[in-house]
Amino acid sequence: MRRTIDWDGGAVVIIDQCALPESCRTLRLTTVDELIGAIRRLAVRGAPALGAAGALGTALSAFRHPGDGEAVRADARRLADARPTAVNLSWGVGRALTRLAEGPEAVLAEAKALMDEDERVNREASRRAAELLLDRCPPRPLRLLTHCNAGRLATVGWGTALGVVWHLHEADRLEYVFADETRPLLQGARLTAWELAEAGVPYRLLPDSAAASAMARGLVDCVVVGADRIAANGDVANKIGTYGLALAAARHGLPFVVVAPMSTVDKELPDGGGIVIEERDPGEVTHVAGQPVAPPGATAYNPAFDVTPAELITAVVTEHGIFPPA
Ligand code: MRU
Repeated sequence: MRRTIDWDGGAVVIIDQCALPESCRTLRLTTVDELIGAIRRLAVRGAPALGAAGALGTALSAFRHPGDGEAVRADARRLADARPTAVNLSWGVGRALTRLAEGPEAVLAEAKALMDEDERVNREASRRAAELLLDRCPPRPLRLLTHCNAGRLATVGWGTALGVVWHLHEADRLEYVFADETRPLLQGARLTAWELAEAGVPYRLLPDSAAASAMARGLVDCVVVGADRIAANGDVANKIGTYGLALAAARHGLPFVVVAPMSTVDKELPDGGGIVIEERDPGEVTHVAGQPVAPPGATAYNPAFDVTPAELITAVVTEHGIFPPA
């Protein structure tokens, strides 16, 4: 299966997530500016995939400016700032920069090592989370609810929350997945549903506003999501709407599990209060697929992420283990 993001002959090649689900096409990005544009419009997105984008973008710059460390560092800063919330982006940039003094090939080698690790650690984290769910949930095929897209499209390969789905499906322990649509940009409807359909996993799309009611009606065993930044105390930033799901899961006594690689943990940040939340164009709310759904001149509040307090999280699962949140 093609990687979501890769290096090919001097270019960064991505699956163009703006074109899915209508078309699965790739884009070849040969400059840092093209890559920054792709990050901003979410053609490449999801915290672990952004880590790879940061590292590969730094390699692009290192080949473009051999021997000019200042120019590469300036590009690296612009890349790291392309989106503020997912810590993986600046982590990937920083990791590639550690090899800058050795030349462009070394920077690229570091980016490639990061990509190889991505699939390995996400497989391991999601395997541990699947075991946890089998332990905590009723002894029958499980009904999971997930939000946004934390699948292979959000990573280099495999996925985090959807990685749990792949493990349970393989083990014949999954009944179905509820995929939240995830307003306003519909990552659940466009991307998660596409991945689940490709893999032959039974799923139903769920309007975001129906999640609490599905829980109340006993249709959900567990909520599983990814993360964009995890503070040292276990507070988790993830796609807008995650906090509401955690509140609803707590009200209904359902496990709420976060699956993420260690690269999403920001150990410097004591709690979620310090996480910068990206605010996006109001037009993403007032329009759907380019068509207005609100009166002319309507404006909107459009935060892309929210912070779920650690006390509402049953467990944060990484490749290193299962952490009680606080
Ligand atoms: O705005 P996006 O699509 O980049 O947001 C992505 C998410 O919020 C994901 O849930 C998160 O990055 C985890 S992906 C494994």
